[in-house]
Parts: sequence; structure tokens; C-alpha cells
Amino acid sequence: MQAARLREIGGPSKLRIEDVPEPEAAEGQTVVRVRAAALNHRDAFITQGLYPNIVLPRILGSDCSGEAGGRDIVVDPTIGWGADERVWSPDATILGMPADGTFAQFVAVPNQNIHAKPDHLSVEEAAALPLGGVTAYRAAFVCGGLQAGETVLITGVGGGVQTFALLYAKAIGAHAVVTSARDGKLERAKALGADVAINYATTPDWHKAVRAAVGAVDLAIDSAGGDSFAKALTVVKPGGRVVTYGGTTGDATIKMFPIFWNQLSIFGTSMGSPGDFAAMLDFVSKHRIKPAIDRVYELAEIESAMQRMDDALQFGKIVLRIPQ
Ligand SMILES: NC(=O)c1ccc[n+]([C@@H]2O[C@H](COP(=O)([O-])OP(=O)(O)OC[C@H]3O[C@@H](n4cnc5c(N)ncnc54)[C@H](OP(=O)(O)O)[C@@H]3O)[C@@H](O)[C@H]2O)c1
Repeated sequence: MQAARLREIGGPSKLRIEDVPEPEAAEGQTVVRVRAAALNHRDAFITQGLYPNIVLPRILGSDCSGEAGGRDIVVDPTIGWGADERVWSPDATILGMPADGTFAQFVAVPNQNIHAKPDHLSVEEAAALPLGGVTAYRAAFVCGGLQAGETVLITGVGGGVQTFALLYAKAIGAHAVVTSARDGKLERAKALGADVAINYATTPDWHKAVRAAVGAVDLAIDSAGGDSFAKALTVVKPGGRVVTYGGTTGDATIKMFPIFWNQLSIFGTSMGSPGDFAAMLDFVSKHRIKPAIDRVYELAEIESAMQRMDDALQFGKIVLRIPQ
């Protein structure tokens, strides 16, 4: 089969399209025929060596839609979450590292990770859903407790996960304040229902602009870390919540007093449990949510696709069409 395999660290240019043997299903696994896959920032971090426990060579990729047992399916990329809904097991892994992933014509996955594709989604839309969809679902609802009528701040809205957070917030009738480095992305976010859109690159004091526009927010969701996380903390109302699932720009230096004085709750989250994944699929189907797709590339164009993500040019998910 054809697959995009990483042989050495050094960025997206180190991914090679290769002929490799088809995977065989171990006990409790099924081999899925991949129709489309999607990128996550994790894939770019892995090519750059910025990820723990990298094993090479490896086929990358955590997201896919495809076919298994004659059914149209999507795959839950969290493997071995464990019994505790609050936190994944130390042995849990994510599809695409250390196990071979979805940038291939076939991938072997645990049987219980296979779910029916939501009917209202195309193959490409369904491929965009799993990792970003479940991370945003857990961040917004399970940890963040977002309710209709509340206001949520979503920083760096162009990101794959954050576009889901926006779509979910609008689906339940919450107000959304978003930031991005590019006006074009802010326009796209507004078209998806964002109520207030601020360019953090041209407005360094964007947190003050948020306060001027809406007062304070009930919930902030951030994955940029650094300055973005620190400023997000300052716009949350007393008793409000902050959720982080990433640190794209690095660590944050934060002020302690406003956190305890204002009795804020800060949640860390990663991926989602099998229950979260099933709930996310139900939610997306009920609200007929369609992922924001930035572009669809052919598998052979993976280097360009990864470069687009590395350059933060995308709005939403970058999808790969897999040759059949
Ligand atoms: N813990 C988990 O389970 C989990 C799951 C998924 C993702 N993540 C992490 O979450 C992060 C995003 O992942 P992704 O796949 O959604 O990546 P992505 O699609 O590449 O999105 C990254 C986005 O970050 C935003 N950003 C960059 N610098 C920023 C800054 N200074 N302030 C605010 N926003 C900034 C940009 O938004 P704009 O272009 O709009 O400015 C960019 O599009 C990564 O660090 C990833 O590793 C963690």
C-alpha cells in the first residue's frame, strides 16, 4: 500500500510516500480502508522532533474516515483511555505515534475505536472530525461546562480544534469572542457565527479589546499557551473557567492573585474518553455540524499540506485524499 512515512526528524520534508506492506490486524483489531485523513498539529510537531517517545520509521496521522466491514466509519484516535472518565490511563496512546497511523491506504485499529460515520458528513468532512472534534467537545462541554447564553473566548480560532469549539458554541446558543493573527480568518469565523473577532497580531492588547467589547467571558479555551493563555486569564469573569489543551507558543507566565481572588477554575484536558467520543458524534449529528475544512490535498502532496499548517495559514482542518 501507499503511505506517508517519517524516517527521520527534520520537518515535513522528511515525510516520504512509500510502498509499504499492508498492516495485519492483531487480536482485537480491524484493518480499516482509509478514504480520507486529516492533519493535526501533532503531526507537524512529530516531524520536528517536538513530541515524546518518537519511534521511527512511522506512518503518521491520527484522523481518518474510511470503510470497515462494509460500513462507512470514522476512527476514535485515543487508544486505551482506561476506566477513569476524568483522566486517561498512563498507557493511553494516540493513533499515528507510536502505532502506525492514517496517512496510508490501510490502518489497523482496535475494534472498539471504530464508529459509524455521521450520515450528514462527506468522506472528507468525516476525516476532519475525530481528534479535533473530541478535543474541542471535552474542552467546551465536559471540562468547560459551556451553556447556552454564556460567552466563550476562543483564542487562535483558525486552529483545527478551535474551529470546532466555535461551531459547538454557536450550535448551543453561546456567544463567541474569537482571536486570530489574520483578518481573513476572523472573517471566516464571523461567517460561522463569531460575535466578536479581534486580531491579536495587530492588537497586542487584545484582552483589553475583549473587555471593551463584552465585559468579561464565562469561559476561555486556549491552546496557544504563553502570552495568549496569560491574557485569556484576565478576561474571565469571577467564578469563570479556563480550559487549556495545548501550548503551541510555549509556557505562560501568569499572575496568581486574580486567579484565586476571582475564584477561577483552570482545567487541563487532552483528547477524550470513549464516552466523550460517542457523545461528540451524537452532538455533531444532532446539530448537523460540518467541520470547517481549509483545503483538501492528495496524499502525495503531504509536504505542502504540512507546510501550510506549519505556516499557520489554514482556517480549520487540512484534509488528505487517500488514493483507492
Ligand atoms: N492535548 C490534546 O489532546 C491536544 C489535542 C489537539 C491539539 N492539541 C494542541 O493544541 C494546539 C493546536 O492544535 P491544532 O491541531 O488545532 O493546530 P493548528 O490547526 O495548527 O492550529 C494552531 C493555531 O494556533 C493559533 N496560534 C498560534 N500562535 C498563537 C498565538 N500567539 N496566540 C493565539 N493563537 C495562536 C493559530 O491560530 P490563528 O491562525 O487563528 O492565529 C493557529 O492556527 C497544538 O499545540 C496541539 O499540539 C492538543
